[in-house]
Amino acid sequence: RMKLIIDVDTGVDDAEAIMMAVTHPDVEVLAITCVSGNTNVDQAMMNTYRVLSMCNATQVPMFRGSQFSLTGGGHDAAYFHGTDGMGDAPDAGPEPLTLPSPPTEHAASAIVRLVNKFPGEVVLVALAPLTNIALALHLDQGLGSKLQRCVVMGGTLDAIGNTPQYPCAEFNFSCDPEAAALVLDKMKCMIQLATWKTCSECCIDWDVVDNLMAIDTYRGRFHSAFMKQPIAKKRGRYSHFHSCDPCAMMTAIQPSSVLHSMEKYVTVELHGKHTRGQTIIDWRDNSGKTPNVQILTGLDSAQLLNLLTAMVS
Ligand code: BDR
Ligand code: CA
Repeated sequence: RMKLIIDVDTGVDDAEAIMMAVTHPDVEVLAITCVSGNTNVDQAMMNTYRVLSMCNATQVPMFRGSQFSLTGGGHDAAYFHGTDGMGDAPDAGPEPLTLPSPPTEHAASAIVRLVNKFPGEVVLVALAPLTNIALALHLDQGLGSKLQRCVVMGGTLDAIGNTPQYPCAEFNFSCDPEAAALVLDKMKCMIQLATWKTCSECCIDWDVVDNLMAIDTYRGRFHSAFMKQPIAKKRGRYSHFHSCDPCAMMTAIQPSSVLHSMEKYVTVELHGKHTRGQTIIDWRDNSGKTPNVQILTGLDSAQLLNLLTAMVS
């Protein structure tokens, strides 16, 4: 089975990606590490544990990571993910939860330990601001060379962002631009980047989504409850449904879902007054720098629908 470490800021789409991974028969989740992003790190831990409970997967170890970005900022995306980060659907179950005391080991340290325990075997799936991954690279500069693959949901293909704070930046990169730049620079393995634009183009028709949300199983009811608010928000804004973190998870689990990609040198703008956090792609290879990223530009939406359906069936 494929060994995954998943870094999350759970978040409604992180919750979907976690469901997809822990219910997949070919996947073993070694750990889920949490970081602040869509919500604060403690709420992200709670939300993650809630998802694991609904999937009978509370045996998956969880580790608490960074509360602040590398430069000390905090974040929040309640405007989309809800005040609890999970679509404000407290009645969706399970019963009121008490999070067992998490291990005292920091997320970054757990990532380093587990990757070194299984060299060459781990697929790291980063679905959040890259603070924990940057800290892990500070602890072990050889981390990237010991991974089987590294998939990151972040960045975008153009200067059209999805965050109120920095109009040119994608959310995960904008929350901790220094961490994103450091990870791109120091990972030293080809990072598979599922960008905002790529994920938003891997879309599903609204009537198909309605059928998906009507699947009347234990996990299906939970899924449609926490997706209700975000779906209503998206429906008003987009002609089709899309969800970012499940796209990145699909790439990790089913590499055949990548239809188009290109290898480029990619970094992140750190200083721009208006462009901080923007993804900088050397489209024409002008810099002469060795490509560090496989930019995913086309993903298979049929496979995405299959995986979303399987996880609630
Ligand atoms: C990313 O930002 C977060 O809000 C989502 O969970 C996803 O990881 C999309 O830009
Ligand atoms: Ca996320």
